[in-house]
Amino acid sequence: MKRRGFFGGLTAGGVAGAVGGQWSVAQEPAAKPASEPVAEVAPGPLTVKSPAALMAPRADGLEVVWAVSGLCTGRVEWQLADGTGGGLAGSDAFGFVPQGEEVLRVRLEGLPPGASGRLRTLTTPHGGAMETGEWREFKTLNPAAAETVFAVWNDTHEAASTIQALHAATPHVDFLLWNGDTCNNWVTRAMLEPTLLHPGGCDITSGRPLFITMGNHDVRGPWAWRTEEMLATPSGRPFWAFRSGPVAAVCLHTGEDKPDDHPSFGGRVAFDALRREQAEWLARIITAPEIRDAPHRLVFCHIPLRWKDEKRPDYVNGGSDSYSARSRDAWHESLVKWGVQAVISGHTHQPAWLAAAEGFPYAQLTGGGPQLKSATWLEGRADAGGLALTLRGMDGKTLHDIKLPRLV
Ligand SMILES: [Fe+2]
Ligand SMILES: [Fe+2]
Repeated sequence: MKRRGFFGGLTAGGVAGAVGGQWSVAQEPAAKPASEPVAEVAPGPLTVKSPAALMAPRADGLEVVWAVSGLCTGRVEWQLADGTGGGLAGSDAFGFVPQGEEVLRVRLEGLPPGASGRLRTLTTPHGGAMETGEWREFKTLNPAAAETVFAVWNDTHEAASTIQALHAATPHVDFLLWNGDTCNNWVTRAMLEPTLLHPGGCDITSGRPLFITMGNHDVRGPWAWRTEEMLATPSGRPFWAFRSGPVAAVCLHTGEDKPDDHPSFGGRVAFDALRREQAEWLARIITAPEIRDAPHRLVFCHIPLRWKDEKRPDYVNGGSDSYSARSRDAWHESLVKWGVQAVISGHTHQPAWLAAAEGFPYAQLTGGGPQLKSATWLEGRADAGGLALTLRGMDGKTLHDIKLPRLV
């Protein structure tokens, strides 16, 4: 039997490219192929290429992300420290065991809040033997805890020595928030995995489950779209909210530092639409009791929403945003309504505290940059006495020591 190809049913004259009015016709494949097809899989032994990054912590679980050198499946075995639970996480939204050629992601769900335990990865290459990872400890977030401790990094820009110094200085915390500009420009696809999952050769999520908010450099370059494959977030989107002890946090994506149609972006970005979507989501999420009624309310976003000198940039002649007016225009009303105490940002590569002021009832703290002399890490500590935000340089000096009272 013969059948028409893709254009079957149209007249020859109506289709450009038909030669001499003649149609090519597809042959049915032979009933019995000469040989069985061979699976298209890259050859070579499997290598697990990164530590198992513990990302996107939630009250009921987290996501484990790790890099591999070829096509394989991944599962995660977990055990609670108190012996009340354990299991094997290994199914995705379409019913597959999680699979990938470069990155594996396994989501743990249904765990108790404030749980601690240990987990390990089970990685099986196509047609090969399973490789079992080392046990590593994990914790879930605890919204009901009386206190929480967290850390913030930002603007590391692939500076290995700075990341190593931050890693050495930062203690174990309830969560580490890497507040954007992990890179400079994603010019090759190979640079994503080491930059995000094994930065500076460090196992940065050991004892610090990680959130990453998107900076303007994280969305720059021809391979930036692939960040979605290896950045787990609680919502599966680049914006989310969570509660850890007395702190409610809203994490937002401020997009690029120039308009979407700037020629340097090559038509690759659509952040005006994302800002609008976040505005609609923000108006809803601030009414959720766990977020609305929190004693402390913070926003984490890479580009600040205010700045010392708010001149309009000259984008045509190399100008860019030191604060995101487009984001503030979209979100300000909801942020005021919610009663956010402080916006924690980066981007400017200089530490600065802007207190709440007329028209801006929320304060703002920015941190340092990629060089050791400009790098900072922020410790946040909230308990019955309030929230302390302590910004430190790599020399151990305290640059800002802010105390915020409980709102309720
Ligand atoms: Fe930066
Ligand atoms: Fe930036």
